[in-house]
Amino acid sequence: MTLKEIKSGVFWAGIIDWDRRLFDELIPLPEGTSYNSYLIKGTEKTALIDTSDAEKADEFIKNLRDNGVKNIDYVVSNHAEQDHSGALPAVLDAYPEARIATNPKCKDMLKDLLLIPEEKFITVNEMEALSLGNRTLEFIIAPWVHWPETMFTYLREDKILFPCDFLGSHLATSNLFAKDELVYRAAKRYYAEIMMPFRTSIKKHLDRIGQLNIDIIAPSHGPVYDKPGFILDAYRDWVSDEVRNEVVLAYVSMHGSTLAMVNYFINSLVEKGITVKPFNLTKTDIGELAMALVDAATIVIASPTVLAGPHPAAVYTAYLVNALRPKTRFASVIGSYGWGGKMLEIITGILSNIKIELIEPVIIKGFPRDENFKALENLAGSIAEKHSSLNISK
Ligand code: FEO
Repeated sequence: MTLKEIKSGVFWAGIIDWDRRLFDELIPLPEGTSYNSYLIKGTEKTALIDTSDAEKADEFIKNLRDNGVKNIDYVVSNHAEQDHSGALPAVLDAYPEARIATNPKCKDMLKDLLLIPEEKFITVNEMEALSLGNRTLEFIIAPWVHWPETMFTYLREDKILFPCDFLGSHLATSNLFAKDELVYRAAKRYYAEIMMPFRTSIKKHLDRIGQLNIDIIAPSHGPVYDKPGFILDAYRDWVSDEVRNEVVLAYVSMHGSTLAMVNYFINSLVEKGITVKPFNLTKTDIGELAMALVDAATIVIASPTVLAGPHPAAVYTAYLVNALRPKTRFASVIGSYGWGGKMLEIITGILSNIKIELIEPVIIKGFPRDENFKALENLAGSIAEKHSSLNISK
């Protein structure tokens, strides 16, 4: 593949992974992904920003060689995770003169994860400058997007920010630059799955890069943003404290009792003007569920009782919600049991790490009767009142 020129002397040199469908053995990739690397040619030095996943190392090196890259002085490592650092050992083999430029914490992680020796590194610190001759790299230490060692690189003269994972998207596309609604959805999914737990850090980093003069944002997954406002405005919306008049309803049913409750409850919420996003947990893509949690004011988990506790799919979902730490304000649980159990206690126990107000659950015995439907109606009413109190009912 030929390198793609972003600006004169600055090239996209990455790998598009069209077929990958799972990341970290956890995250679905319906649109594939890319491992973006960038080659920057200065009058005196040449730098590479990040590399690729180890599985694509041979292809990555071949691309560089086929495109006549004979010398690399610096490989900037913005992030130690292996989808960007995995090809570093191969780069060091192919270009033994290269030195990895990174912050001390990232250096230690690369030494641990990839067994790279100390002498291959030069360390850089906050706003330190690294000259390439007519071009200058500056480094912004930006921890917790989404590991502790993450940093951004800013190419001063060209006003290009390389933020690695931050602001990126899992999207395989032949378009170099972000063009359409597909990118918005892929970036939102990426934020929900990877960045949402670090919302507080992200707010600070957005403020920080807001002070820079940026023409182009070149992340390490997905297309490049030649209109930075597109992704910066989207992120400001997602990380804001504002929630929407929406209920995420994550449900699973075994013999139809919980499903009857879910169907009734959906209608009750809709009649009260609330947007409902139901997810059948036996079929749902967890990325879609995570995306819905970016904005929703309330999550309701609906589960039957099995082996004295929640259905394992409901446990998994509660665990995921707890880990993703959405800005969701309210939660409730609905469901059915045959003869007893601790379904409610187990689910609420899992959710204990997030600041969320529990609204009176509706847990019933057997198939729902009139009084159970009435309780669901009341729950929908309580949720509508809570949403009204936030002025989000319209
Ligand atoms: Fe794309 Fe955190 O690695």
